[in-house]
Order: sequence, then structure tokens, then C-alpha cells
Amino acid sequence: MSYWSHEYLLRNWGGPMVQAEFLKEVQRPFFVPRVFSGLNLFLDEAGLIPDAVDLVAKECKTKKAFLVTDEYAVRFAPKVMGPYEKRHGIKFEIWAKAQPDAPIDTVQECAQKMREFGPDLIFAVGGGSSIDTAKGAWLLYEHPDANIEILSPLVPLNLRNKAKLVAIPTTSGTGSEVTGVAVISFPDGVKLGTGGALPEFVPDFALLDPTFTVGMPPELTAGTGGDALAHAVDGFMAPRADELNQAIALKVIKMVFEWLPKAYKDGSDLMPRIKMQQAAMMAGIPLSNAGSGISHALGHTIGGLYHIHHGAMVLLFLPYELQVYSKATDRHLEICDMLGIRDNSSDAQSLSNLIEKIRGLMSEVKLPVSLKDAGVSKSDFEGHLDFILEQTPTDPAFYFGWFDLTREQLMDVFSCAYEGTLLDMNSEIWR
Ligand SMILES: [Fe+2]
Repeated sequence: MSYWSHEYLLRNWGGPMVQAEFLKEVQRPFFVPRVFSGLNLFLDEAGLIPDAVDLVAKECKTKKAFLVTDEYAVRFAPKVMGPYEKRHGIKFEIWAKAQPDAPIDTVQECAQKMREFGPDLIFAVGGGSSIDTAKGAWLLYEHPDANIEILSPLVPLNLRNKAKLVAIPTTSGTGSEVTGVAVISFPDGVKLGTGGALPEFVPDFALLDPTFTVGMPPELTAGTGGDALAHAVDGFMAPRADELNQAIALKVIKMVFEWLPKAYKDGSDLMPRIKMQQAAMMAGIPLSNAGSGISHALGHTIGGLYHIHHGAMVLLFLPYELQVYSKATDRHLEICDMLGIRDNSSDAQSLSNLIEKIRGLMSEVKLPVSLKDAGVSKSDFEGHLDFILEQTPTDPAFYFGWFDLTREQLMDVFSCAYEGTLLDMNSEIWR
């Protein structure tokens, strides 16, 4: 199958130009939804002043709303729908068949149901896969002939002619409730980010109720929290990141180190859930507005191949991203400053302190630091190495690195990641 990210001009010219650091002062789009968070977002009674329910309902002129969710998160549907039905007479149709990684056939089925119902408001309730399924289906609802796999990021999506989108996350990691990207998977195992020329996939509203995240098991709390940390570091380090995005990213990094271990240890404690839900949402903002990073390109390839949790994989590659980027920038020292782990006499020591801090968090929440620990068999890994080295540079997140890695450099990263050893940045490969 052919994908937009394989197209020569986009891959070799378009992506790097869009991301180039010297262009960061040229144009600074900053797209975010209207965000409401708290424990009282779904009240059955109207208050003295308009609340989130009133503002969202105002967008639903046809009084028909379509709710996209999965078999787990569908349990939250009654709480979400109740106030809209009671206070504004909105009728809902529920489609609860979203699947992990948002497979294209489920996206198409969801779009078909939307077309039959004809809503002008779409609610996405669930983790990143449900929200991304809703985004993809929303596009196909508005433009039935669109081919998601070849949709160029240089072409506008032209959304919002038929409907608007309300995202309600039930995990704390992907940030899809605020990002302008939908990650859809295809039958050959490729997971493709799609976004169009403008971040039109940024939902119109993001509604954050922390009680929806309370049921997450510890492994999912750890994996999704790891994803949030990777988004914040990627977004902070991305060449195009400006002060606005960096300020948000730095705060997220601090919050994840403080609150993720607490959310992991006691999932029923509401305060860590509130903080991680906020952190994950905030991390999506620099991810969407400043850029991703090579941790995601590397993590997508291995995660897609071995079906390992996305967050666990991208966090595993984060130390390598920091090592690689340190050849081109010392921006990570600002993260060290913020965390109070900078060694003023040695930048190399500061970098190792940061990596040690990240790996310390990984062990605390029992995430693997090596592919071996993640259960990847050596012989299988070696058998797929050619595919891995071919696939990784075609991932859109690869554009966001500071420079293109050679095949040898990529091989070095993957080999070290297999064992969990760090790169030798003084070796010939990295000079
Ligand atoms: Fe991610």
C-alpha cells in the first residue's frame, strides 16, 4: 500500500522544511480546543450561568449527536449524554466499536453510521484510539471520497461543514483530545498520522472529567503517562518549539515526574488522576503545535511490529532521542535546570542525570528500559532488522528530529535499545 509519508517530495523536502528551526519565527500557529475540566462537567440541572453543557449544546442545531466510543468506555456514555438529553433535548446515536490503534475498516464503518444518522455534533469518548477513530470517521463523514492513507499534509481537510467534535478522554496520555492529528492503522501494520495542512482535527471542545480515568489499570496508567512525558520532551526539544509550547512542555515534565508514580501506586486516589489528566492534555499541545520527535518514529515501528503499548515504546526510546539530539542542540539542559539535576561543570553529566531520572521513573512504574525487557525475542528482532531500518525513516515523526540519522546510526540506536545500553556518542558513527 502507498502512504503519503512515502511520497518523495514530502519525505525529503516538505517535512524537513516545515520543521526547520530557522523558520520558527515565520509562522506560529497555535491551535487548542475550548477545554473544560473538573468534576461537574455533566450536571443534569442548569446552573446560574451557562456551563460546558450549554456551550457544547449550542453547536448542535439538528439536535442529533453521534457518540463514538469502545466497549470499555461506553460505560461513561450515560453520564455524558444525560445532561444534553435532559437539558437540551439532544438525541444520541452510540457507536461503541472503536478498536485499539483505530483500524481503517472500523473508521469506515463508523463514518457510514454517521452518514446514516446525520449528526452535527460528534462526541468521542475513550482513549486515543476512540478519539482518533472519531476524527477519521468525521473526515469520511464530511468527505466520503477522502483516502486517509494518501491524504497530503499540504492539503486542507475542510472539516466543520457538517459537524463539530467534542473529545472526552478516559485515559491520560495520548493527548488526542487537543491534537490536530489522527493516528489510523492499516492492514499491513502501518500506523499513520494524518492531519492536513491546518490542524483541523483539533477538537472544538475537550471535556476532562478525572473520574473517567479512575478505572485504568496500573500498566495502562504507566504506559499512557509515559506517552505524556514523551510528548512533552518531544515537543520541548522539537526544532520549531517556541516559548509558548516550551513553557507548557516544561510544566508537564515536572508534573509527570511528581504525579505519575502516585497515580500508578494508587489508581483510586483522585488527585494524581486529576494531575495526570491535566498533564496528558497539556502535553498534547506542544506535540500538536511544535512537533513530535524521533522517540515516536522509533517507538511506532517497534510498537506496531510487536504490538507493545505505544507509551511504553516511545518512553523507552526517549533517552536515545536525547542522546542523538545532544549532537545538535543543548536545549535539554533547560529541562535539567528545571528538574534541578544540571551539573554546571559537565554538560555530558547533565545529560546522563536526565536519562537516569527518566529511567528511574520507568523502573518505578515498571516500564521496560530495553526491548529485551519488553519481551522482544532476539532472533525475531534480528530477522526484522531490515524492515525496522526501512520503516522508521518513513514515519512522519522522523521529520521532527534535528537531523536525519544514517542507516548505521539507526542500527546503533536499535541495537543499544535491544540491550538497554546507552549510545557511545564518542564512537565513529556519531562524530
Ligand atoms: Fe504518543
